[in-house]
Parts: sequence; C-alpha cells; structure tokens
Amino acid sequence: MTSDMNAIQLDEVGAPLVVRRIPVPQPGPGEVLVKMAASPINPSDLAFMMGGYGFAQGLPVTPGNEGSGLVVAVGSGLMAKRLRGKRVACFARKGIAGAWADYMVTRASLCVPVSSDTTFEQAATSLINPLTAQAFMQIVRRDRPAAFVNTAAASSLGRMLVRLSGREATPLINVVRNESQVSLLRSMGAEHVLDSTTPGFEEQLASLTRQLGATLILDAVGGPLLGQLLRAAPHGTQILSYGRLSDEPCVIEPGELILQRKRIVGFFLSDWMEQRTIFQVLADIRRVQRSLSTDMQTHIRRRVPLEDVNDALDEYRRSMTDGKLLLVPSGAD
Ligand SMILES: NC(=O)c1ccc[n+]([C@@H]2O[C@H](COP(=O)([O-])OP(=O)(O)OC[C@H]3O[C@@H](n4cnc5c(N)ncnc54)[C@H](OP(=O)(O)O)[C@@H]3O)[C@@H](O)[C@H]2O)c1
Repeated sequence: MTSDMNAIQLDEVGAPLVVRRIPVPQPGPGEVLVKMAASPINPSDLAFMMGGYGFAQGLPVTPGNEGSGLVVAVGSGLMAKRLRGKRVACFARKGIAGAWADYMVTRASLCVPVSSDTTFEQAATSLINPLTAQAFMQIVRRDRPAAFVNTAAASSLGRMLVRLSGREATPLINVVRNESQVSLLRSMGAEHVLDSTTPGFEEQLASLTRQLGATLILDAVGGPLLGQLLRAAPHGTQILSYGRLSDEPCVIEPGELILQRKRIVGFFLSDWMEQRTIFQVLADIRRVQRSLSTDMQTHIRRRVPLEDVNDALDEYRRSMTDGKLLLVPSGAD
C-alpha cells in the first residue's frame, strides 16, 4: 500500500475545494482504514462545507459524510478486527476526515458490511437517506397521524418515502418546487403532490392537510416555506425539521405554537440511531440492505473522478433532482 494518497480538501469556507497528496491515515484503536470506492455528494456535505456542522479539528478538512469501500487495515479491538477485508458502507467520523479521498479512517462502529450482491455504487448511498426514510416511516407508525407531509419531496429521500408510504395506509402529501417534479412523483404513483411555487399553494395545503388530517410534517427546506407549513398545518401538528435546503430566513408566528399547539422539533439521524438499541439498528440495516434495488433505490447520475469535484458540485447544486453524483478515486472498481 502506498504511503500517500489523493484527498479532496476544504481550506476555507466558501473556497473551491482542492485535491492534494496527503499521508494515508492510520487506524487507531476501534478504527478501520477503508480504501474508498465511491462517495455521494449530499446536501449535508454542502452544509458541512459552509461550516454548518463546525470543524472538529479545524481546516483543512476532507468532506464526505458517507461512502463505500474495502477495509484494508484495522486498529485494535474485536469489532475493527472482524471488518478486515470486508466490503463496507461507512459513515465518516463527524467533521474529522471525510470520504472524498482514496482512503478514509473511520470508527468500526460506523461501518456496515455489505453483501456480495450489493455493488459499491449501491452501498455508497445505503446509509444516510435509506436509514432516515426508514426512521420517518417508524415515526409515522409510532405517532399515527391520519396523513403526513414531506417537502423537497422529489429528493432521493423523498422518492424513498413515496415508495414506502405506498405500502402503508397513511397518505403522504408531497410538496415540491416545480412542475417537472410534480410529474416525476406522479409517474411514481404519488397521489397528492403540491407545487409550492404555484399561486394559492398555502390555501391548497391548508385544505388538503385538514381534509386528510395530516398532523405530521417532515420539512427538509426551512426558510419561508417552514412559516407557510406552520400556518397551513392543522391544530396540534408536529413539524420535524430535518433539512435546511433554503438559505433564507424563516418567519414564524408564535401564536401558531401557543394557541394552535403546533410544535417544531429537529430530526438528526445520528441522534435517532443513538436512541435505538443495537438489535433495532441491526434490524434497520438489514431491512435497508434488502431493499436497495427497490424501495431504497437511489438514482445515480454519474461517477466523477475526485479531481473534478468542483464541477460536480456546480452540477449538483444546479439540479439536485437529477440524481446523485458519486466521487470515485482513480483505480476504484
Ligand atoms: N436530518 C437528517 O438526519 C437528514 C438525513 C438525511 C437527509 N437529510 C436531508 O434530506 C434532504 C434530502 O436529501 P437528499 O439527499 O435526498 O436530497 P437530493 O436527492 O440531493 O435532492 C434534493 C432535493 O431538494 C430540492 N431543493 C433544493 N433546494 C431547495 C429549496 N431551497 N427549496 C425546495 N426544494 C429544494 C432539489 O430540487 P432541485 O432539483 O430543484 O434543486 C431536490 O429535489 C436534505 O435536506 C438533507 O439534508 C437530513
């Protein structure tokens, strides 16, 4: 194995990323070294690069929250040792060193072995969105709203929810931001799709949420839309804020919270997973892996060499609905 590697690095918030040669990191106790095969660009990576999660060890830092690859070296500890030579899907350690590199060190507990019939491409997007989509369906089953709403619903995650909710009795109201996204979700069989940019959107949403009893709203957008969702929601609605795709400020009328008993709470996958038992997490992972080519499928737009990361970021920001761009080290399968 070589002693240095290509890694994408962020030197400064807002600056273009650079690819440079840095030493291959070595796994410590409970850690593994993954030879990366692929890693997607996700909205959380964009937020990370803007400083949204802080930089635990300062800058420069390698972004990339999840990916897939082969475990080629391990540190001490049973869990790490059991992963030697395994193909894995892996989370990066928060804000320390990401997946957009030839190699990544991460904790063994953040790696999931993948079956031989799962491609590295599928495995690269098999954690963040599928586990979140599954968590949302568990929340729907637990809280039993008569219906629920999701925003930015043409996202990869939104499309998983369209497929999953199609198997449940609880209707899903999808909110998107243009006509082609309405058509996309309708072609997948979604019954309720609203375009937030059409005149009268807020009234339509208020009428549909009341008619169906949609007292759970999953919001990935924030900004002015979050204020509209709060106003349009029925009495007692809970809004789970799980994304901040809009960088605009949000104005909230406190009366909605005080008199209408509506609530806004945050959702963060890692917090959710920490609350689950190890047996629940293992079952969640197994269920997700079984449906990576069906309900939990992610549309991959194309594979991109690490060197082209800045062009890939521009392309992704222009049209996220067109699918994930996968960053792939040279020489990866
Ligand atoms: N909290 C958590 O733990 C957690 C976990 C997983 C995912 N998430 C969040 O889930 C969301 C979806 O992730 P993903 O990977 O599935 O996304 P994705 O596939 O990259 O798609 C993003 C979608 O959002 C739309 N969008 C972008 N900016 C928007 C805006 N300002 N207003 C309305 N729509 C907008 C895009 O439409 P265009 O094509 O028009 O740009 C696209 O349809 C993200 O916010 C992500 O951060 C959160």
